[in-house]
Amino acid sequence: MRHIYTAWLCFALGVNISAASQPPQAAIATAHPVATEAGLEILAAGGNAFDAAVGVSATLAVVEPYSSGIGGGGFWLLHREADSLQVMIDGREKAPLAASRTMYQDAKGKVVPGLSVDGALAAGIPGEPAALVHIAETYGKLPLSRSLAPAIRAARNGFKVTPHYRRMAKFRLKALRTSPAAAEVFLLHNAVPPLGHHIKQPDLANTLQALANQGRAGFYQGKVAKQLLSGVKSAGGIWGVQDFEQYEVMERTPVNGKYRGYRIVSAPPPSSGGVALVTILNILEKYRLKSLTSLQRQHVIVEAMRRAYRDRAEYLGDPDFVDVPVKQLIDKNHAAQWQRSISLKQATPSNSLGQVADTSGGNHTTHFSILDKAGNRVAATLSINYPFGSCFMPPGTGVLLNDEMDDFSAKPGVPNVYGLVGAEANAIAPGKRMLSSMSPTFIEGQQGIAILGTPGGSRIITMVLLAGLGYTEGLDAEAMVRLPRFHHQYLPDKIFYEPEAISDQQRTHLQAMGHELKALQQPYGNMQVVIWDKQANRVSAASDPRGEGKALLH
Ligand code: GLY
Repeated sequence: MRHIYTAWLCFALGVNISAASQPPQAAIATAHPVATEAGLEILAAGGNAFDAAVGVSATLAVVEPYSSGIGGGGFWLLHREADSLQVMIDGREKAPLAASRTMYQDAKGKVVPGLSVDGALAAGIPGEPAALVHIAETYGKLPLSRSLAPAIRAARNGFKVTPHYRRMAKFRLKALRTSPAAAEVFLLHNAVPPLGHHIKQPDLANTLQALANQGRAGFYQGKVAKQLLSGVKSAGGIWGVQDFEQYEVMERTPVNGKYRGYRIVSAPPPSSGGVALVTILNILEKYRLKSLTSLQRQHVIVEAMRRAYRDRAEYLGDPDFVDVPVKQLIDKNHAAQWQRSISLKQATPSNSLGQVADTSGGNHTTHFSILDKAGNRVAATLSINYPFGSCFMPPGTGVLLNDEMDDFSAKPGVPNVYGLVGAEANAIAPGKRMLSSMSPTFIEGQQGIAILGTPGGSRIITMVLLAGLGYTEGLDAEAMVRLPRFHHQYLPDKIFYEPEAISDQQRTHLQAMGHELKALQQPYGNMQVVIWDKQANRVSAASDPRGEGKALLH
């Protein structure tokens, strides 16, 4: 059966069936060297890509506490080579059962600044612990205790404060100081620790050990659960026992698209990533991009982004709560309609496409990409939302809680912490998953396979788009992560860009076409890419030079 499927896939994609069927090396790219090493340790111990993903996720939770953690959630896109299974493990946080639509509004219906960002009330029910247990039990070869060992060791022994750690801690200093347990772990005498200082997390090590020993019950039941629930309650939060009993990991079918002979496999709702990515590529397929000038190319990419983000704003939300018309949105006919509304000479003002609000996205998150020697692969994007999440740590647990509730729209039309506003499909409801932009992605073609993704809030999708387009046009892993970035998200009606992405002359021309532009002072994103070139039978990997990560082959 598998051979028939493989033959069909080869035919559909025009793949040369003499191409390598197993990669010569494994590869891991993550946002932190200690996490990359942890993944390699798991592979060396006989684990597969899925075991390595568990080890990497848990280690990132320790050494990159501002980006993701077991107090948060994420999406793990898996490919199992033996039967070509492709599935997305949805460990996204859920709104507590006591949550309500207006919980971040005051008596007059005004959204209270900060309430969905800082402190216990901002935290959704964590999904990462349940997801790690699920991945290990369903797809891994090693016991969970083995895959979690490097993370537990890193939590006990400590990791060194880096320049990026200091920037993140400085940014969230005020909020970290309000949680004594968090301040004890992540600050030194209530101040940003110096470079090289060791951050040790004995409570987190114990919590991870409980997860390793007892599986799901080690986090969602027993001592850890009691400490989490009472800590949240005494800090004004609304978590209850039932939230923990009812939290479930979902296995979801990835979004599948086709672009010029490539297969695009990406995150389905409750992420908006896959739908928006495929919509943009469907629109761009209508153009011969190579025959456009670089200015026209930038213009049509921006116009395609604008339209896909408008769809995102109107239609995307948790598919268990709202009817998301995925099939229609990624249909080529829908893209053709959008394409007909694009002028090659003039920008389309976003407000002329109809009044729909945009949705939110966090700006601190993490991504890793893994390929093992059997050809199994994982693209995973994980988050606690804002840097250091809610900055709240229930005493005794070592678990820093997310502030993913801010990814809901607190009130339709009212901007969230990123200045973005949300729509009905993403309104708060008890037990609902908040909309995400996280876009772990595979791009599969005749030449081979790219495994990619990045943090970056609502800009995640356009970063994956630009790198993915680059891959289809022959860029290697290093060039993909280095690529200068630009972004449009429908509202605000502006092109945001890294200065290297758009020259002064191009800026002048784009302005003359009616575009508004904003050059960003800071680079953004932290992309991790692994490529298996099946024709050359070569594996390569790259970690974004904007970050502190590491890519290694094994
Ligand atoms: N909190 C980041 C995202 O899910 O998009």
